[in-house]
Amino acid sequence: KVISYSAKMIEKGEYKHFLHKEIHEQPKAIADTILGRLKFKGQNIWLEGIDTQKLKAINRVLIVACGTSFHSAMIGKQIIEEKAKIPVEIELASEFRYRNCILDKNTLVIGISQSGETADTIGALNSAKSRGMALLAICNAIDSAIARLCEDDAGIFYTRAGPEISVASTKAFTTQVAALHLLALTFAYLNKSLHKGEILKEIEKLKTIPKVIESVLACEKDIAKVAQNVASADHMLFLGRGILYPIALEGALKMKEISYLHAEGYAAGEMKHGPIALIDENMPVVVLAAKGQGYEKIVSNLEEVKARNGRVLVLCDKNDKKLIKRSDMNFLLPFCDSTILPFVAAIPLQLFAYHVALIRGTDVDQPRNLAKSVTVE
Ligand code: G6P
Repeated sequence: KVISYSAKMIEKGEYKHFLHKEIHEQPKAIADTILGRLKFKGQNIWLEGIDTQKLKAINRVLIVACGTSFHSAMIGKQIIEEKAKIPVEIELASEFRYRNCILDKNTLVIGISQSGETADTIGALNSAKSRGMALLAICNAIDSAIARLCEDDAGIFYTRAGPEISVASTKAFTTQVAALHLLALTFAYLNKSLHKGEILKEIEKLKTIPKVIESVLACEKDIAKVAQNVASADHMLFLGRGILYPIALEGALKMKEISYLHAEGYAAGEMKHGPIALIDENMPVVVLAAKGQGYEKIVSNLEEVKARNGRVLVLCDKNDKKLIKRSDMNFLLPFCDSTILPFVAAIPLQLFAYHVALIRGTDVDQPRNLAKSVTVE
């Protein structure tokens, strides 16, 4: 099925920037990624665009990607391992392609790419192909180079996020994570680690994501206020654990890409191995906290930041009175379990970076030195 984009889809409409529009398009984009894309046909599972027969013998997965797509790979690793109990490795495409990585015929190599044209991801997939590996793509751009590389192999799952014009990736990221969920559920069924009833229940849960995201988007004014308070900082640190660790990396990446503010994302447990030396009253630290994601440990990390006079910005459940009390500023989330959490937690950080960029007066949609698709090495 060929999907064409209408002129209206590539206009800014009521928005000043494509980035802002694309952030707000996420409820629809995620619904388009999920709805009707995974089905049961008798005893067989069907995932649009994927040759599920080819997945049956797979006992190991390797995901290659670059930039934001690599952060969705990090989340995908956690989801596939948890749901399908299959070991997943992730590797930056630019590293994998020049390394003699150990692969065997039961390994599936997945390339994740919004544009489907990133030179390093194409190079990594070609290298895996030349070694006889099965390939699968998660891609947004129809008929792109990466899609074509994988179409006669294990297949392509199109995210269907619609055109992403702004250089910094937003809706492509969350829809990639949604796609990885569907793939994890497919593997879980083939692997018998989840039965049909459990999978259908998971899909129902995924379907609630657009509504929950809408409620977070409605809090944009509060996020803009936090941005006002910290936009003049020179550096910023983002800390997370578990599924919130890649979200911390993505939050920091969005901040540097569009606002040119130096931001670092870190696994919170690693703070003591370096970044803690940087913390003083001039360092805003965004702490991402949720029950089930190393919560008690991240609360201690927060205390360590406070003890060094760092400014603490906490992203947490809106009912988490304890953390709200201990923070200087916050991004509040509705309650969500670990399935929904990465989607919902990503949104305030995208809006945060956007509002900091607006205040700093940078070119939001076309940041200096960056390209939407890096087609050279
Ligand atoms: C560039 C873009 C990023 C993107 C990365 C990977 O750096 O500016 O937004 O995440 O490439 O792109 P891909 O199209 O392969 O997902």
